[in-house]
Parts: sequence; C-alpha cells; structure tokens
Amino acid sequence: MIRLNCGSVTVGGVRMDNHLILAAGVLGTTGASLARILSTGAGAVVTKSIGPFPHEGHPGPCFAEINGGLINAMGLPNPSKDFLTELTPVSGKPVIASVFGGNPAEFLEVASWFSGRVSGIELNLSCPHAEGYGAAIGNDPGMVEACTKAVKSLGMPVWVKLTPNVTDITECGVAAERGGADGIVAINTVKAMRISTDLRRPVLGNRFGGLSGPAIFPIAVRCVYELYEACSIPVIGCGGVSSAHDVVEMMMAGASAVQVGSAVIHDGDIFGSIRDALYSPDGMRPEEIVGCAHG
Ligand code: SIN
Repeated sequence: MIRLNCGSVTVGGVRMDNHLILAAGVLGTTGASLARILSTGAGAVVTKSIGPFPHEGHPGPCFAEINGGLINAMGLPNPSKDFLTELTPVSGKPVIASVFGGNPAEFLEVASWFSGRVSGIELNLSCPHAEGYGAAIGNDPGMVEACTKAVKSLGMPVWVKLTPNVTDITECGVAAERGGADGIVAINTVKAMRISTDLRRPVLGNRFGGLSGPAIFPIAVRCVYELYEACSIPVIGCGGVSSAHDVVEMMMAGASAVQVGSAVIHDGDIFGSIRDALYSPDGMRPEEIVGCAHG
C-alpha cells in the first residue's frame, strides 16, 4: 500500500498534526473525549454541532446499527453556549467547532462565541433530519453562500460541510467557495430509514435519519471527486472511512485531509491504527497523490 510522509499540515487555513480528523458528532461532546481522540493520533478534531439554543434532540431510538453502517437521528442535541467550557482541556490544540443555525445571522452568532478559541469553524449545512437546519437550508446554494459569507466576516478559517442529498453537490461547493470558505467537507450522512418488521414501525424515533459507515464510502468518494474538479479550495473527505487504504483512496479522489467518524465507535484507537499504517518517514509526499485519480 502507498505510504505517506508525515508532518504537520495546513488544510483550509487550519494547522493540524496530520491529515486525519475526527468528524463532527462522534465523541465530540466533551473536552475530555476530544482530548482523548487527539492523544490517540488524530491530527485535529471537530466538535459536536453547536447551535443557537440548548436542544435535547429527537425522541429515541436515535441510533441503530445496520448492515454496512449506522443510522442516526440524534436531532442536533447540544448545550449551546454552555459548550464553551468544554474547550478548556483542548485549549491551543487543533480543534474545529461545528456550528449550525437556521439563517446567516444565527450561524454568525454561534460562530462568534468560538472566535479566538478554536482553529476554525465548520458549518453544518448538511444534517439530513433537522427541520429548518442542516440540509433543509444547505440544499440551497444561495443560503450556503450567505451563511458562509456571514461567518467568514469573523476572519477565522471556515469549512462548509455539505449534504450528499442533492442532485448536484458541486452547486453547493461552488456556493461555499463564493461565500469565502477555506475548505469544503464532503459528505454528511445520507438520508435513510429502516422499518422494524416486528413493530411495523420505523426503527428511529424521528422515522428518518442519516446513514454513515462503510456503506456510504463510495458515495463520499464520488462527491469528493466531483468537488475537486469544480472548486479551487481544499476538499476534506468524510464518509465511511475506516482504514489507511480508504484515506489514500479519498486523497486520490481529491481530498487534502480526511475525517473519520463512525469507525471510532467500534475502535477507540482507530486514529493510531490508521496513522501507523499510513505514514512512513520514507513515504510519498501527500501532494503527489491528492487528486491523482483525475485524468
Ligand atoms: C444529529 O445530531 O442529528 C446528527 C448531526 C448531523 O447529521 O449533522
């Protein structure tokens, strides 16, 4: 397998210890868990999405394991501004705050709480099951551009996490770039559902949820590939990554860095395992493989 030369990297304005990033939503709710993931080998971490008001989330069940992945409908539970106290254990570390709002003003307000306290902001314009938030507004390129522009006014690095649940993801990627984004994260979960045949009811309390895990990896690779061709800013790959091989494949599609989410649930040391398999002092320069699958 191809191995890469390690070293700190700067992607989309964020300096990180390596190319591997904890994806939003997974073990990102406390400072202690963010610090633990950094200590196991992640180059940077993204927090659970924080919004303008404290929110309990959707009624349960919120989570189910299925063939090839996980399906969740947490419903963006978060303590809102009170989350800031969780940043103390990771002060000065490569932490990206995931934020959401229902319009540009709310995005700006929430992002401003993090100004000077994190390395960058990731806009959640992609949760597939939150009324008025996430993909409900992030499927509109005009809204993507406006929210990005509002948060970019703070002068921090801004990444925009996109939904795959659209006909053409590049329209939203180009809109984020127009709004001044420093990077695009692709992809959030794929809207999905399961039905319990015993109960004759949807498995999730919210009925619909988001599919993550290995089942969506080929969709994520396709989206990264398309965005790499359409946009000039870095693309950060996300979706079903669980091995060093997946990281290399995602980078060949065009990812400058790669997020890992669901795989952490089964292996708390996944970042260390991927890092050890991916990097070698005599490995290739990452620039040699990023986007190399494009003709
Ligand atoms: C959730 O909290 O429901 C998941 C967040 C997301 O999919 O962005």
